Amino acid sequence: MSIEFKNVKYTYELHTPFEKKALDDVTLNISKGEFVTILGRTGSGKSTLIQLTNGILKPTSGKVLIDGVSTTKNDASIFEIRKKVGIVFQYPEHQFFEENIYKEIAFGPKNFGFEGSKLNNTILKSLNMIGLSTSVLSKSPFTLSGGEKRKVAIASVIACEPQYIILDEPTSGLDPASVKNFVKTLESLKKMGKTIIVVTHSVDFSLQNADRALIMSKGKITFDGNIQGFVKSSDFEKYELLPPPLYQVGQKIIGFNTKNEKLAEDIKFLEDALQL
Ligand SMILES: Nc1ncnc2c1ncn2[C@@H]1O[C@H](COP(=O)(O)OP(=O)(O)O)[C@@H](O)[C@H]1O
Ligand SMILES: [Mg+2]
Repeated sequence: MSIEFKNVKYTYELHTPFEKKALDDVTLNISKGEFVTILGRTGSGKSTLIQLTNGILKPTSGKVLIDGVSTTKNDASIFEIRKKVGIVFQYPEHQFFEENIYKEIAFGPKNFGFEGSKLNNTILKSLNMIGLSTSVLSKSPFTLSGGEKRKVAIASVIACEPQYIILDEPTSGLDPASVKNFVKTLESLKKMGKTIIVVTHSVDFSLQNADRALIMSKGKITFDGNIQGFVKSSDFEKYELLPPPLYQVGQKIIGFNTKNEKLAEDIKFLEDALQL
């Protein structure tokens, strides 16, 4: 049970003057129950990678397999894949189209055959998991605050009960309280055995939530491994990432990266503070 990429390349506008190589020979295996974050600067290929996981985009070459089934065909198998792999796109609340929140959340599960009490149960469960009360169901999605809108968008994907939940920069534009709430939701999903993949700009978020991080650069995966180990290695510059804020403070005050042995003790102190 896994998401597998085998030598996947993806080029936008293939065979036109606007050809743009976005993924370059990506090989990857994400197993059931893993919590993976994807880091990397803008344009490195993160959104392209996640759109290949449920067949919205098809590989230009290579293969993407979900539980062993290729995303290439457009028959019944792609429907099963879309049911298993739920994607929350960046700023999903920009895509609301229903007149009330009940209909907004019900749209996906209905499409996948949920009806009657099964449909209502999954809507209530997802609302509860995301921390919204049932009183919002009759409201128009456009009357909600930014944080609430994001919650509705995430609930509408959770309500489809996918095994793999993939979120593209889900915390961008959210206030700290909403981020905290979102982390709680992810923890519940993890406890349920869901596989979670989160695209993020934040090394801090990755450090606090994920077991494994992928770092992308120019369409390639340049790092795949333990995020704690990565932060310890201080290779931020090499991977074009911004270190966590506390780490940056450390760098400013005592030259965190220095090889000066006298500073080893201070660095140890900061590492402890960062819980590395
Ligand atoms: N629809 C598109 N048409 C052409 N090029 C695109 C399109 N979407 C993304 N790209 C290009 O593909 C590369 C990877 O983009 P993307 O996957 O969106 O990166 P990220 O999510 O890491 O910012 C970038 O160079 C981007 O400009
Ligand atoms: Mg993106």
